[in-house]
Amino acid sequence: MIATNPDKNLLVDRFGRQVTYVRLSVTDRCDLRCVYCMCEDMTFLPREQLLTLEEMARLGKAFVDLGVHKIRITGGEPLVRRNILKLFRDLGQLEGLRDLTLTTNGTQLARYAQELKDAGVTRINISLDTLKPDRFHALTRLGDISKVMAGIDAALEAGFERVKLNAVILKHHNHDEIMDLVEFAHGRGMDITFIEEMPLGVIGDHDRAEAYYSSDDILRDLQQQMELHEVEDNTGGPARYVKPAGSPYRIGFISPHSHNFCDTCNRVRVTAEGRLLLCLGQEHSVDLRRVLRANPTEDEKVREALLASMAIKPQGHEFALGGQPVIFRHMSVTGG
Ligand code: GTP
Ligand code: 5AD
Ligand code: SF4
Repeated sequence: MIATNPDKNLLVDRFGRQVTYVRLSVTDRCDLRCVYCMCEDMTFLPREQLLTLEEMARLGKAFVDLGVHKIRITGGEPLVRRNILKLFRDLGQLEGLRDLTLTTNGTQLARYAQELKDAGVTRINISLDTLKPDRFHALTRLGDISKVMAGIDAALEAGFERVKLNAVILKHHNHDEIMDLVEFAHGRGMDITFIEEMPLGVIGDHDRAEAYYSSDDILRDLQQQMELHEVEDNTGGPARYVKPAGSPYRIGFISPHSHNFCDTCNRVRVTAEGRLLLCLGQEHSVDLRRVLRANPTEDEKVREALLASMAIKPQGHEFALGGQPVIFRHMSVTGG
């Protein structure tokens, strides 16, 4: 074991892993109710419990001062938070931040894409699990796919470095669309990542074990139709990538069940309430809202709290497929 970084300028945990990537959830609310993410009647946080956008910007700066170079804004759906552009504009000005990214369901992008680009957002990940309008409506319990398609168009027009699609693949729900999703993404100049469903939160009558479709299953399906090559580079995220022969676009796999990637974990998360979560699949956390509010002007205290948190970052998650989830918070609380 390596001791937490002695020079106190970087976030290094007990296992020698440096945290360079922060996922900041700005709201637990969403305009959709994806079956694998939420139950139908969710209770959301009262607004006064959320960090303000100013507090989030303050936190972002503290992280960047400690060597973080990538911040991803997540939710819920980040773009439903009021005045959210202000946060993007503030973060976009931080020197040392190389990558300001967003994960969104795309429903509001038609309105926001250009302003996000102007604020300094480098890349966008858009969730899209199906190309079929009826299926989309069923999987999201509420959604209108045409809004997401308009959002994708707007994101492509705005000229981000990269626009990527994320698809959670579920057996008997959308596993027959893997190839169509790849063709759609690559045909429009986007990468696509396939995600194994993770057991976060109680979500109603959707059966996770039955719907499990592994990354290896997906890869096998694709290999029957195309020749694929391994890709070495990565975005600092947990995905492994391949490319079809002759194509510039990638296909990624996020496989928390079949290929655990905790050894190289470089990230932490902050919930919309300001709880710093040291692992997606564990409950170890630090109440940063308390620290921020007890020290409205002393940024040194925030910095100390972040450095101290490295002592409790766990080695890895303990996801299992059957029975009750081990983590009772929903994905929309963690921001994925
Ligand atoms: P880039 O690599 O920057 O494109 O992003 P990303 O894949 O890290 O982010 P994105 O928000 O698109 O997340 C895609 C999926 O990866 C979501 O389902 C996340 O929950 C999942 N994910 C991200 N980080 C972790 C992690 O540390 N552990 C696990 N198990 N899943 C993660
Ligand atoms: N397992 C895996 N991915 C999930 N997402 C939401 N809930 C889950 C889950 N339980 C995905 C969304 C989005 C990303 C941020 O996380 O589809 O693409
Ligand atoms: Fe909303 Fe994303 Fe959860 Fe779907 S997965 S309900 S779009 S937060």
